[in-house]
Amino acid sequence: MLATFKIQKFNPETDGKAHYRDYEIELPERATVLEAIIAIKEQLDGTLSFRCACRSAICGSCAMRINSCARLACKTKVADEVARFGTVLIEPLQKLKVIKDLIVDMDPFWRMVEKVRPWLMPDPHETPPERERLVAQGTDRDVMRDSLCIFCACCHTDCNVTEIEPGFVGPAALARGHRYVADTRDGATEQRIRLLSDSHGIWECARCFVCTQVCPKGVDPRESIRQIGHLAFERGLVSDDGARHAQAFLDSVKASGRLNEATLPLKTRGLGVLGMTPLAIRMFLKGKVPFPLQKPVPDVEEIRKIFELTEKKR
Ligand code: SF4
Ligand code: SF4
Ligand code: FES
Repeated sequence: MLATFKIQKFNPETDGKAHYRDYEIELPERATVLEAIIAIKEQLDGTLSFRCACRSAICGSCAMRINSCARLACKTKVADEVARFGTVLIEPLQKLKVIKDLIVDMDPFWRMVEKVRPWLMPDPHETPPERERLVAQGTDRDVMRDSLCIFCACCHTDCNVTEIEPGFVGPAALARGHRYVADTRDGATEQRIRLLSDSHGIWECARCFVCTQVCPKGVDPRESIRQIGHLAFERGLVSDDGARHAQAFLDSVKASGRLNEATLPLKTRGLGVLGMTPLAIRMFLKGKVPFPLQKPVPDVEEIRKIFELTEKKR
């Protein structure tokens, strides 16, 4: 198979800015993108720099953007990319500083992971068992799912919120935080839920599901974030704007079967909504301010029954 590649290159010692270089190379039909860039380095461009280690989707070091999506190069087939896009565009992970070519500085990502205290914190007052501490049955599935993370940073760097809010701890860190919330051997559950639902935590998630979609290991960060949100609600931790927004959303649908977009900002931000006055005026002038009084949808009782059933189930 003859395949063409467009690869982003950047050498801080010689280049003012990043540029692209095209390569054409003959590869076996089953070649992965990692095998392809190794072949390019060996045969066409010895300066091409990238990270890799396990070649088996275990170490997470070969994460890069392949045809505009963060992926593991060792788990992506060249033939599939060529069939879909005609060529293979390779770039470093977004939002992290490029050190050289496809190598990025992972330190900011690790700092976010560290923020969720990714280690077991057993209750210091609990008498240790004679043998090992076992994970309770029923919770092991969540713990296992979150533990599959190899910290490749694909989800973190493709997340739509880390794009606009660099302080957001991100999906990988939140999934790892949830791994310890779900672990019955941990003694700091309450403290962790508070930490994860604090500013720059779960409520900054925009629920776009990109993290779950790009994860090469089957971790489901969005589901982990949802579960932490549920636990935070159960404990009445609703002081954050994001939590109040979710609560206002629920209250509105429960009351009328509709989302009342006119009252949503007020219920979410309280008096802080006054800061949005210039925006409200611009929206009003464009005829985009929704009317605050809404009639309930027909059969709103059916919707309320769904709420009742869900609440009972909890
Ligand atoms: S679902 Fe949330 S955490 Fe995941 S990518 Fe979207 S905004 Fe980021
Ligand atoms: S959750 Fe998935 S995509 Fe995100 S860092 Fe872990 S393995 Fe990579
Ligand atoms: S080389 Fe280890 S995950 Fe790709």
